[in-house]
Amino acid sequence: MAQFSTAATLTGTHSLHSSALDRVQNRTARIGIVGMGYVGLPLALLFSEERFAVTGFDIDPKKVETLNAAGSYIVRIPGTEIAAAQRSGFRATGDFAAVSEMDAVIICVPTPLSEHHEPDLSYIEQTASAIAPFLRAGQLVVLESTTYPGTTEEVLIPLLEAGAAGGLKVVRGDQEGLYVAFSPEREDPGNETVARRDIPKVIGSYGEPAGELAAALYGTIFNTTVPVSSPAAAEMTKLLENIYRCVNIALVNELKQLCQRMDIDLFEVIDAAKTKPFGFQAFYPGPGLGGHCIPIDPFYLSWKAKQFDFRTKFIELAGEVNEAMPQYVIDQTMEALNQRRKPLNGSQVLVLGLSYKRDIDDLRESPSLPIIEMLRARGAMVSYNDPFFAHVGRGRQYDLNMDCTPLTDLGQYDCVLIATDHSEYDYARIVAEAQLVVDTRNATKGIESDKIVRC
Ligand SMILES: NC(=O)c1ccc[n+]([C@@H]2O[C@H](COP(=O)([O-])OP(=O)(O)OC[C@H]3O[C@@H](n4cnc5c(N)ncnc54)[C@H](O)[C@@H]3O)[C@@H](O)[C@H]2O)c1
Repeated sequence: MAQFSTAATLTGTHSLHSSALDRVQNRTARIGIVGMGYVGLPLALLFSEERFAVTGFDIDPKKVETLNAAGSYIVRIPGTEIAAAQRSGFRATGDFAAVSEMDAVIICVPTPLSEHHEPDLSYIEQTASAIAPFLRAGQLVVLESTTYPGTTEEVLIPLLEAGAAGGLKVVRGDQEGLYVAFSPEREDPGNETVARRDIPKVIGSYGEPAGELAAALYGTIFNTTVPVSSPAAAEMTKLLENIYRCVNIALVNELKQLCQRMDIDLFEVIDAAKTKPFGFQAFYPGPGLGGHCIPIDPFYLSWKAKQFDFRTKFIELAGEVNEAMPQYVIDQTMEALNQRRKPLNGSQVLVLGLSYKRDIDDLRESPSLPIIEMLRARGAMVSYNDPFFAHVGRGRQYDLNMDCTPLTDLGQYDCVLIATDHSEYDYARIVAEAQLVVDTRNATKGIESDKIVRC
């Protein structure tokens, strides 16, 4: 693995570099974070905790206004944390001219898929063009958005250099210039078992001085930094991690369907298998894949692979299995109703949980959304309950326009479908009151009832 040189070897040729390092060490470096979303805002708060003055850049004026009023739009981040950050100098803005005041600019903007399932780098491109005119030598720019290997060197750097004033170039050797690196975000929303600081931070820099500066900066908020030899290696590291999850989830989703036919409880099997102290990591089946990462990121690599005349067969197969899971849930629900002499058409179905996973307020790519749409398309009268969403309207891939239904009078529904296993639900009560429970998450584990269909 690559190692960054010590400051002493570099400072002779890079005076701007050594003064940037000094500002990091004495916490006077000003840090700009572009994209105040699920990744950028928590990162801003971590740097603020270390007494850095952080500026959050966002094109959404509502987010800027909320943050400047010490408010929050992410459930797990209370306004008090924003207020505390403000005491270290945190502010939000939509004015990119303030980039010129920063020592480091970290980009955390979305990287979705286009309508045709191809990488949509427009947010990275817009950001690069917006910040470029305000960049100067000695600044560090780090891309954190998940993307295919090559993005930093082939897309970001050319845009930064083309838009920068005075012929500013990214540092390639001993000259002064702009420092650039890629460092993937590894946050796992809702995971309370690992402190953010304890998640090692992978950094792939464009040249050694950039790596040294990025490692110094991230070293203030992460206990371990992991240098790799290039931005592309860091970009690929993030994709490997997410593809590993995607493929393994597809495997257990497929085995779940087989086990159901064989009348074997796959959850029991996984619990037994995970007692093996080596060579096995537990993954759990569900109603499909959700979130901004796992259903999307692997296809960034599939797309890039085509440029190398290569087909990523594991990714495609995993995508096929995972994307078919909502249909499997619908089939199981229809079958369960059928056993009770009820057609899905005209049945009242209550879907529990909209978020893509337990206890978080994020419904991006959530399988609950296609499940609701498919139920409705088959004539079911669908309600939903989710403690995190009072209303669900229209998104990129859905148009629901529904309000949250209170969890009362559960006997009125022909079926209660557990799509997300939020921990605040009382599953024993739900089973006791419901006529039929279709459980896609093993949330009713330990509850014995012939009303439950686990799928
Ligand atoms: N959410 C996660 O758990 C997670 C985990 C790891 C990696 N990632 C990756 O991190 C990146 C960001 O994800 P996120 O979940 O924070 O997205 P998000 O949608 O929550 O936040 C992105 C923010 O960027 C802002 N934005 C968009 N274009 C902008 C521009 N041109 N200039 C300034 N701001 C702009 C948006 O208004 C929004 O506030 C993505 O590449 C994602 O794949 C996310």
